[in-house]
Amino acid sequence: MGSLSLLVFFAQFLIASSLVEFQGNELQHKQAGLHFNIYHGQELHSSFMSKSSFFSDMLAKDEERVKALYSKLAGDVFMSTTPNASEGREKVVGIPLKSGLPIGTGNYYVKVGLGTPVKYYTMVVDTGSSLSWLQCQPCVVSCHPQIDPLFNPSNSKTYKKISCLNPLCSSLKDSTLNDPICETSSKTCVYRASYGDSSYSIGYLSQDTLALSQSQTLPGFVYGCGQENEGLFGRTAGMIGLAHDKLSMLAQLSTKYGYVFSYCLPTSFSASASTSTGGFLSIGNSSLATSSYKFTPMMKDSKNPSLYYLNLATITVAGKPLGVAASSYKVPTIIDSGTVITRLPVSLYTALKEAFVKIMSKKYAQVEGYSILDTCFKGSAKNMLVVPEIQMNFPGGANLLLKANNVLLETEKGITCLAFAGSSDNPIAIIGNFQQQRFNVAYDISNSRIGFAAGGCN
Ligand SMILES: *[C@@H]1O[C@H](CO)[C@@H](O)[C@H](O)[C@H]1NC(C)=O
Ligand SMILES: *[C@@H]1O[C@H](CO)[C@@H](O)[C@H](O)[C@H]1NC(C)=O
Repeated sequence: MGSLSLLVFFAQFLIASSLVEFQGNELQHKQAGLHFNIYHGQELHSSFMSKSSFFSDMLAKDEERVKALYSKLAGDVFMSTTPNASEGREKVVGIPLKSGLPIGTGNYYVKVGLGTPVKYYTMVVDTGSSLSWLQCQPCVVSCHPQIDPLFNPSNSKTYKKISCLNPLCSSLKDSTLNDPICETSSKTCVYRASYGDSSYSIGYLSQDTLALSQSQTLPGFVYGCGQENEGLFGRTAGMIGLAHDKLSMLAQLSTKYGYVFSYCLPTSFSASASTSTGGFLSIGNSSLATSSYKFTPMMKDSKNPSLYYLNLATITVAGKPLGVAASSYKVPTIIDSGTVITRLPVSLYTALKEAFVKIMSKKYAQVEGYSILDTCFKGSAKNMLVVPEIQMNFPGGANLLLKANNVLLETEKGITCLAFAGSSDNPIAIIGNFQQQRFNVAYDISNSRIGFAAGGCN
């Protein structure tokens, strides 16, 4: 089965499941902030398909995202390397588009309401993307299949298009890397968002009322109404951008709620999916109240101010610090919701792997690597009882104490791999979502700090 048919296959289950899961009160109003349930699509995925082909596809896409992050961090503007994709876009818009990050497949979703009367839409959440958009009627060229009915702007009495003269239109360059287009007849602003995995959305920059809970709304929410969309978005209606950028949903909510969000990502494809409980995305100052976070400073990078940076202090394996120089940790480090596997600079990764293997190999035979994961063992993750804990420590006392479910990925039956990878030629680190699962992670932008709290999703 090719990846497309797998996605269609998967999407059918997502539909079936979403009918159950998405009923009821999706958006709960918690104090002065906003609380959304968050889901991982692949949780449904893995039980119905060849686990091995799913993981190889997922890890290949993860590497595409990481490569795009590398070039962003190096100060390059990332362009899609898929020739067919850019050909397709050139045909449509006349000039090649600059791409944002590939969306990958290790994604998380929320359900948000839009329009008057309100309708609800399943949207990918991404801390690496800025502009939010969803597929809109009429689909002039194409729309990808989605679970929810297509948004129809003419049925919403609060919908309006944004003019080219509006400064919001010129903000698009920073958010999408592409210049806006001004539709000459109507003087309306057209956005072009394109991603490194050859997916894209083109349409009108628009405003409508965003429904945040039964009682709370944000009038004039700025987003893209996509009439031409192409991509494998796993049957979602579009995406919600949580990057540090003027047009992101976060920035738009910040005046009212505070420039803060937190999430707890539920377990995805771990061996013990039965332990999985719901995760959340929480926006606003009150999202810090739910857990006792330990914080580390949020760093800034003027080349890529929309990404979230922090510093790594030390890593321990089974309580023992890696035998590396302190300078090994001094690399640009970002935390990302859309990268699955944590990447470390090679010197750190090698030391981590050696310390890990030293303990694991006493009990489990090492086997050939799998895709980007080069440290694999014979045995089922759920039967591995002596897995050394890996702790990532950050300046200021924040840490992630990673147990087996954040460390081991069973890529195929009886083969379990260390879910870390080296960032080959690039001395950078990315904290991926597999390592973040079931921790509460807080992005307190107004106080420039990132927080972690264990035992999350409660
Ligand atoms: C482009 O697409 C065609 C068919 O659509 C395919 O045969 C070809 O291998 C693709 N090229 C690349 C470089 O992906
Ligand atoms: C949120 O908290 C920050 C400081 O932590 C404060 O400056 C801001 O006014 C607060 N915003 C709201 C909407 O409560």
